[in-house]
Order: sequence, then structure tokens, then C-alpha cells
Amino acid sequence: MIAPIEDVVVQAFISRFGGRPRVFAAPGRINIIGEHTDYSEGLVMPAAIDRCCFVAMARNGSDTVRALALGRQEEAEIAPVFVRSGSWADYVSGVRQSLRDAGIRVPGCDLVIHGNVPEGAGVSSSAALEVSTMLAMLACAGVTAGPVDIALWAQSAEAKYVGVPCGVMDQFISANGVAGHALVLDCRSLTYERAPVPPTVAFLLIDSTVRHRLVDGGYAARRADCESAAELLGLRVLRDASHDMLDKSILSERQTRRARHVISENERVVGTALALATGDLSSVGRLMNESHASLRDDFDVTCRETDILADIASATRGVYGARQMGGGFGGAVLACVDAGAVEAASGAIRDAYRAETGISTNSLVCRIAEGAHEITS
Ligand code: GLA
Repeated sequence: MIAPIEDVVVQAFISRFGGRPRVFAAPGRINIIGEHTDYSEGLVMPAAIDRCCFVAMARNGSDTVRALALGRQEEAEIAPVFVRSGSWADYVSGVRQSLRDAGIRVPGCDLVIHGNVPEGAGVSSSAALEVSTMLAMLACAGVTAGPVDIALWAQSAEAKYVGVPCGVMDQFISANGVAGHALVLDCRSLTYERAPVPPTVAFLLIDSTVRHRLVDGGYAARRADCESAAELLGLRVLRDASHDMLDKSILSERQTRRARHVISENERVVGTALALATGDLSSVGRLMNESHASLRDDFDVTCRETDILADIASATRGVYGARQMGGGFGGAVLACVDAGAVEAASGAIRDAYRAETGISTNSLVCRIAEGAHEITS
């Protein structure tokens, strides 16, 4: 039998540092709909998944934070003030610095980090790492914080220190996820409604295997387009834009498309929430397909492989709809599938994708799980 990851983390902690650690977990996420809207203060509909980053932590009585990334077999010392290393340690260091910015001093501790959130596939392994590290560091500092603060501090670790100007969606859902539910999150007010996901539906994630790296600049460029479009429209953010304004505006053709994506995607989130609540799964699927088309044609963040994969998936028996998910430029496609058909659909999609692109890939049926928490044994 394979030991659960939390046990592996504890064992690794004991053999490297000794003593008994506390263990914290934070999940990755899927996003049903609402892509590239969060940094325009728009609407998103993410759900936490049963893939987590685990962090084992015990204070070490010094001022030094030592972190062991188990999968990489690499250890780093985390300075009290952020110093960029260009490695995974920047996430840990960014979290420590972000807490410091919030007036929280993290005493010396030892950390072992390990998880099973796939990297680069668009399910936000980075938010899982940030939020689990943050829970561990808060516990080390003896500070209790609310989940909204945790999300904002974790976002700032990534945006200010790691250097990806991300929105708040990933850290928010990792900190606040509810088992069996997506959240309809308003990224302006940071308030949300729970949207139960009916047991008749499954969310299947298929990896295109094309790896995105948000630090490469495409993400920041899209964000800059949205900001300049808002400014030309006399708005602070595109959340407040409307189709009417676009018709009469002086935006460039590209800015018009970027703004149109944000406006229409916010509308699709509202539509999807309503459709899910009434069990209208064909409308959920249709809106997901439309989201993909908008990401492809207006927002320019898809690639050949994810376009092929989304087309194959949405045409597969038992699938209601599919779209590229996450920051984009590759990563995974999320399909909304009839729960009874998910195994067959998964095989059929992977076969067709291999036939068309030559790429063998993996898929994952996502169980919608709870947000970040301490593991109690
Ligand atoms: C990444 C970012 C999020 C969000 C998505 C796109 O996952 O971290 O904040 O902008 O891309 O929807």
C-alpha cells in the first residue's frame, strides 16, 4: 500500500530535522469559468480539488527558516528579508516577506514541502504552495488570520516577490474552497456564493502537455492590455466596461477584443452559475465552449494544442463542454462531463488527441474538495 502523502511528509521531516511537526495542506484548483477576469475585478467560478501541497513545520528555536522540497531533494535557507533566487524557494521566501509586510514576524522553523498538484498544468500548484506555506508560517508565528487575508497575502507573495502579476482567484479558492462546491467569487468585493456541483456531473482535466510559464510575459502583457483599455474608456478596471462603451470607443482593435473577452466572460460566469443551479448542464457546457472561443479569438491565450484538445473534448460523447483553463498559453483543458460517461470520455479524448497531434497525455477526474487546513492526526 502507498502511504498517504501527509505521512510521507512527516516521515521525511522526522528523518531530516527530528521532532514531530504540525502539517498543513492547501489544494490546487480548477476554474469552471471566469478566466482572465480576476485582475479586472471580475467574476470567477473556481473549485478546490483533492490535490494538495503539504507542509510539515516545527519551530527550531533559531531565527532561521529551513525548507526542504522533498520531490526535488533540495533544501534552502529562507532569509528574513526576500532575496530572489529564481527557484521554488522564492515562493517560500515571498510568503515570509509578505507576512513581514503585514507586520507578522515568522520565527525560525523547519519545513518539509511535498505535494501532488501537477505543475504547469494550470491547476495552480503555486497557490497551493503559497497558501500551505502561509498556514505553516502563521502557526509558527502563533497568529490566527482570516481566509481572505491569507488569500491576499499569498497573492502578494506571488505578485510582488515571485514576480507574476496574478489576480486573487487561485490563492482565494485554495484558502476558501468548500468540498462539493464551486464558489462564484466577485473579485472586487471578495464575497462569494457557494454553487453546489451536482453528483451527476464530473470535471475532467486533460493535460495538453504544452507547458506555460506565466513569468514568461504573456500573462503580464494581457493584464497590461486590460489596464490600458480601461484607462482609455475612462475606467479604473474593465469590470465596469459594457458592450455599448466598446461600440463607441477609440480602443485599438486588440484592446477592443481584450475588453470584449472580459465583459462577455463576466456574463458567462453569471449564466453558468444560474445553469448549474438549475441543473441545466447543456447550458453550462455551451458557455464553457464559448469561453474557450473567446480566450482563443479575443484574448489570444490559447495555443494550437489546447484548441485541438478543447474541440475534441467538446465533441466527445458525454461531454457538455470544454475549455482551456488557467493562465493559458497551454496547460490543461477542463471538460464538464456526465459523471457516468467520464471514464469512456477520458479514454476517447486522449486517443483522439494522440491521433491528431502525436502527443500521449494524462487526464484527471477532479474531486471537488475543501480548502486549506491543518491535518490533525
Ligand atoms: C492564473 C492567475 C489567476 C488568473 C488566471 C487566469 O491562474 O494566477 O489569478 O488570472 O491565471 O484566469
